[in-house]
Amino acid sequence: MRIDIVTCQPDLLISPFAHSIVKRAQDKGLVEIKLHDLRRYAINKHGQIDDYVFGGGAGMVLRVEPIAACFDALLAERSYDAIIYLTPDGETLRQPLANRLSLAGNLLLLCGHYKGVDERIRQAYITHEISIGDYVLSGGEMGAAVLVDAVVRLLPGVLGNEESALSDSFQDNLLAPPVYTRPAEWRGLPVPEILLSGNTPKIDVWRHDQALERTQLRRPDLLNG
Ligand code: ADE
Repeated sequence: MRIDIVTCQPDLLISPFAHSIVKRAQDKGLVEIKLHDLRRYAINKHGQIDDYVFGGGAGMVLRVEPIAACFDALLAERSYDAIIYLTPDGETLRQPLANRLSLAGNLLLLCGHYKGVDERIRQAYITHEISIGDYVLSGGEMGAAVLVDAVVRLLPGVLGNEESALSDSFQDNLLAPPVYTRPAEWRGLPVPEILLSGNTPKIDVWRHDQALERTQLRRPDLLNG
């Protein structure tokens, strides 16, 4: 998979991709992530990429020309399965959407900033608008980091068998069951005995029951949906 990310704050996205599973996926050649600084496509030598809102109002809007120039240069090189704009008014990112995106070959992500982007960019280029939750961030970069992490960990070969994404919360619409490690007892709190029994079929049943109970208690909406 290749992921291109267009942002006016590329520094914000260096660290999230330089550690842990997303870094390992890049090192293994399973994903290539490229950051593109929108300022390189500024409309003048002052580095201008945004402007005042037509009709009045607070905040600045990203202009069409820098984004279009950057997108056109990228689109001349390859086609994309999805051109995604990170925005609070997009579809909320949930596991099924991450699963679908993980099947793509090339993704192009646009991080908004300030008041957002000129609507015509959304009309002309964007195929998917995605929000990471019902709150407003200062820009789309954190959203892009969340989306990339959620998608990359699903790529075949990224996770080892023992950390398979199939047992994640939300796969099967269930929250994950509780987990424990050594010591078997801590401050009088024991690990459930079944987990020490070595009886794998029974452990599987216990885990499923726990997942169901936890989901009923914390997220009944997942079971009803
Ligand atoms: N940009 C600003 N807020 C956002 C959100 N909640 N999700 C994705 N991108 C955003």
